[in-house]
Amino acid sequence: MTARKIIIDTDPGQDDAVAILLALASPEELDVLGITAVAGNVPLPLTHKNARIVCELADKPDTLVFAGAEAPLTRKLVTAEHVHGKTGLDGPQMEDPVMPLQDTHAVVFIIETLRREPTGTVTLCPIGPLTNIAMAFQQAPDVVERVQEIVLMGGAYFEVGNITPTAEFNIYVDPEAAKIVFASGVPITVMPLDVTHKALTNRARVDAFRNMGTEVGTMVAEWTDFFERFDKEKYGSEGAPLHDPCVIAYLLKPELFSGRHVNIEVEIESALTLGMTVTDWWRVTDRPPNAMFMRDIDANGFFELLTERLARL
Ligand code: RIB
Ligand code: CA
Repeated sequence: MTARKIIIDTDPGQDDAVAILLALASPEELDVLGITAVAGNVPLPLTHKNARIVCELADKPDTLVFAGAEAPLTRKLVTAEHVHGKTGLDGPQMEDPVMPLQDTHAVVFIIETLRREPTGTVTLCPIGPLTNIAMAFQQAPDVVERVQEIVLMGGAYFEVGNITPTAEFNIYVDPEAAKIVFASGVPITVMPLDVTHKALTNRARVDAFRNMGTEVGTMVAEWTDFFERFDKEKYGSEGAPLHDPCVIAYLLKPELFSGRHVNIEVEIESALTLGMTVTDWWRVTDRPPNAMFMRDIDANGFFELLTERLARL
C-alpha cells in the first residue's frame, strides 16, 4: 500500500507536537510532504520554530517546514499562552532547532504541491487556525478540487466552546478562514471538541509515555503534564485532551472514530457567538451536509495506537 500524502498545517502547541510525532512515526502509512506553520497558540516565529523542534525530536530533520500566515485573514491574532505557555511547548527544556526553515511561503507550498501531485492524492491536515488553507484557496481556486480530503481539528457543538462560551479556539481565531474552508466543497472530516474531549490523558496513559525510556516518551509526558493543567482546572477532567493527534489517528485507524455527515456553518457576524460551528446534527434544516462531524472515539484504542507509534521514535 502506498503511503498517503499529507500536509500538516499546525500551530505547535503541545498537542500539535504529539500529532506531528505520530505522523512522522508512521512512514509506511503517511508521507508527510511538508509541515506548514500558522500563527495560533503562539505567534508564527514560535510555531515554525516549534515545528522544527518536533521534527528534530523525531530524528526527521529533513522534513520540509514552512512559515505561513502570521495573522488571521482580517482579524487581530488571538493566542493561547494561557494553555500552552509562553513558548507554546512549555513543560520540558528544549534546545533551539538546527534544521532550516524553508524559504517558500507555506501558502505557496500548499498551492504548488496541490498543482504538482495528481488530483485527489493530497490530504490537508489543519490542526490550528485555518488561515493558510483559506489563503491557498483564495489565491489559487484551481487547487480546491485537487484536494483529496481535509481532516481538521476544530469546532464544537454539544461540547460548546473552549475559548468563548460557543467557539473552539482554531475556528475562533480565524472564523472567516474557517467559513471559506467549510464552503469549499472539499470532503471534510472534523475532529471537534466533542470527540477530542474524550481522548483524555490520565496517569496510566502518561506513565506509558514516560516509561518508554526514550527522549520522545519523556518529552511527551512532560508536555502533557504541563498541558493538562488548563483542562483539569476548567473542566475538572482527569487529564489533557489530545486534540490534534485525533486527526492523525483517524488517518491511521479511521475505525477508532464515529460520527455523522452533516451541515456545519461558521458564525462570522455575531460578536456573541463568533466562530461557533453551527452543526445541524439532527438535520432540521435543508442546508446540504458538508462535513463528517466525529463525535465518538475508542479512547483506549487511540492511546494504544499512539503509545505503540511513539515508542518507534
Ligand atoms: O481547541 C484546541 C485546538 O486549539 C488545538 O489544535 C490546540 O492545539 C489549539 O490550537
Ligand atoms: Ca493546534
